[in-house]
Amino acid sequence: MGLFWHSCILLAIFLQVAIAASVPEQVHLAFHGDTSEMAVIWTTFYDGLHHVYYGTDVKNMNQVAIETSIKKWTSGSVTRYSHRAKMSNLKPSTTYYYKIEGRVFEFKTLSANPQSYRVCIFGDLGYEHGNSTDAIIRNGLNGQFDFIIHVGDIAYDLHTDDGRRGDAYMRRFEPLFSAIPYMVIAGNHENDGKNFSNFQERFWMPHNGFNDNHFYSFDLGPVHWVGLSSEFYGYDREYGKESIWTQYNWLNTDLKAAVSKRKSVPWIITYQHRPIYCSIDYNHDCSEFENTFLRSGALGLPGLEPSYIQSHVDLNFCGHQHAYERFYPVADRKYYTGKDVYHNAPAPTYILTGSAGCHTPAAKFSSEPLDWSAFRSDDYGYSLLHIANATHIHVQFISINQHEKPTDDFWISKDPNHLDAAMRSFKTGQIPRSKGTLSPILLKNNFSRNSD
Ligand SMILES: *[C@@H]1O[C@H](CO)[C@@H](O)[C@H](O)[C@H]1NC(C)=O
Ligand SMILES: *[C@@H]1O[C@H](CO)[C@@H](O)[C@H](O)[C@H]1NC(C)=O
Ligand SMILES: *[C@@H]1O[C@H](CO)[C@@H](O)[C@H](O)[C@H]1NC(C)=O
Ligand SMILES: *[C@@H]1O[C@H](CO)[C@@H](O)[C@H](O)[C@H]1NC(C)=O
Ligand SMILES: [Fe+2]
Repeated sequence: MGLFWHSCILLAIFLQVAIAASVPEQVHLAFHGDTSEMAVIWTTFYDGLHHVYYGTDVKNMNQVAIETSIKKWTSGSVTRYSHRAKMSNLKPSTTYYYKIEGRVFEFKTLSANPQSYRVCIFGDLGYEHGNSTDAIIRNGLNGQFDFIIHVGDIAYDLHTDDGRRGDAYMRRFEPLFSAIPYMVIAGNHENDGKNFSNFQERFWMPHNGFNDNHFYSFDLGPVHWVGLSSEFYGYDREYGKESIWTQYNWLNTDLKAAVSKRKSVPWIITYQHRPIYCSIDYNHDCSEFENTFLRSGALGLPGLEPSYIQSHVDLNFCGHQHAYERFYPVADRKYYTGKDVYHNAPAPTYILTGSAGCHTPAAKFSSEPLDWSAFRSDDYGYSLLHIANATHIHVQFISINQHEKPTDDFWISKDPNHLDAAMRSFKTGQIPRSKGTLSPILLKNNFSRNSD
């Protein structure tokens, strides 16, 4: 054999290795439409449109999702391509297989209008020091929950090392995220100095009419889920104040529509990265201007809490502070306690669940918790929500320190016609009014950039 053929063989081997090394990766799912649809998102380091073949028979994936967009983007010196496609016409409660460039994955659809399901919710999970990572992957693959909500601060950080940290995190979780939806919102750590570009390019959340991932909502069975950005408040100086208004106007329209169909979708659950309430020792996010700005608004800009109160949001989840804290129902610092306070609760119940695990240690709780603080834990862990039905939701905190024992465990419930009555009273203007006030001194401080 001559030199020419030797070179050809070597070249062929080289090409094969190169092709094998560059496959679609970081494959993950997200809700994007109703339960007959599923979005799939992946990353490559080379250009080229792919098809997603899918079907109920692994030997005959006879449906095809044509990739709707491919986007070339850069983080530092690294160029990536993010791919998005939507599988549709999915049958309920059915196992599907899907294939992207030879890689095969599978997931199971929920029932058509699932009245009961489970959700894993947490914030602040690092690629390094990710204390909950193994448990989340194992329990998720065991079917303990149907999807995930990560309330910001992802990988620490998605953009670190030109985005290689984000790649490593998404590869680590691919076995789980390719099998159940991974819903996200941005935390302060998603600010990559380029208007959250790593967050925008790597994920694909439901449509909000603005072609970004910052805020969105979706209905699943008896729950209307709403994800929001607290980072518009955190980075208004860098990226402008306009987004605060855009989101606020969108939110009120969205909540109004949700309220009008509350008979069929009785629960409203919202989430954003930073806390509306928390009892962390001397902390801007719990008691200072930063918190006031997000919660009630300031400097002529609107906060989020009035909308939550008016539309009778049932539950709110956040992270940012690295701890777990549950509150009694509270509206504008007026709180409600007593036996059965979570039955027909008169105000939203806030839950901080930012202790999934990352490089900084657990937050230090204030020795004087807010009066409406009901339970606190500085263990690592995640929240597990069981939507039981239209009238009952079970909330647990799964502690990693205590071998995945649920250390917080409570039910929130309501009578079927409770919200009808509640909404009628709101229409006549009886919004709960605050008795508490905030010291004006707090308002004088500037928004500080908290690194949690
Ligand atoms: C959390 O993770 C860190 C780093 O991996 C480890 O040193 C620590 O022991 C872990 N703690 C718990 C309670 O899992
Ligand atoms: C940043 O992104 C938001 C949301 O996608 C957009 O509305 C805004 O105009 C952007 N701001 C800048 C300064 O690029
Ligand atoms: C809803 O779930 C709760 C808790 O599991 C249960 O006690 C109740 O009977 C259920 N209601 C309906 C209508 O199924
Ligand atoms: C607050 O920020 C503004 C604008 O960055 C600055 O001019 C002002 O001095 C700051 N005030 C305080 C109290 O730090
Ligand atoms: Fe944070």
